[in-house]
Amino acid sequence: MKNIVIGVCGGIACYKTVEIVNQLKKDGYTVNVIMTKAAQEFVKPLTFQVMSGNTVVTDMFDPIDHWDTKHIDLAKNADVFAIVPATANIIGKITSGIADDMLSTTVMVAKCPIVIAPAMNTAMYENPFVQENLKKLNDKGYHVLETQEGLLACGDEGKGKLLPWETITQYIKDVAEKNSKYLKS
Ligand SMILES: Cc1cc2nc3c(=O)[nH]c(=O)nc-3n(C[C@H](O)[C@H](O)[C@H](O)COP(=O)(O)O)c2cc1C
Repeated sequence: MKNIVIGVCGGIACYKTVEIVNQLKKDGYTVNVIMTKAAQEFVKPLTFQVMSGNTVVTDMFDPIDHWDTKHIDLAKNADVFAIVPATANIIGKITSGIADDMLSTTVMVAKCPIVIAPAMNTAMYENPFVQENLKKLNDKGYHVLETQEGLLACGDEGKGKLLPWETITQYIKDVAEKNSKYLKS
């Protein structure tokens, strides 16, 4: 069975990632979740633990249980690594080679296909540095998903809204199953 690692960042849309994890688990995938500190301000790790059936990784320096070096083993065993929602912060960290927490460190180790599903306020999304970083990721072969236009949680209307969770789930599954439509070189 395929292993999927889901990185969850601190955006309001992270409650939608719960549905993604739930669906992937129901569809028979092994799902491991890594949450940033900010993500835990929005959703408790317990929710992801119940949905994934696995311990949620939240800290670089947790006592080691069944992984030897968690970040390396999680990354090595992953068939797909998806970050949903991907904040402007994690996007900036990945493109700058920063590894200062469990998520940014693990994604740096991963050699599997990496899916980035951005979600943020329209002005943040349109910020030239964020756009430049998204382009960099795309050029390096990351699967950078679009956002949708709509009414955002902050009240603004425009780009930056997370794609529907069903669309992201299907995308992750297609990449995991090597559906050629989504394969990058
Ligand atoms: C209510 C609230 C909503 C937020 N939503 C987003 C968001 O949708 N996208 C984003 O990039 N940052 C958002 N932020 C800011 C991030 O939480 C902040 O940049 C944080 O440092 C991200 O950390 P992380 O990338 O490690 O999760 C939000 C902050 C607050 C307080």
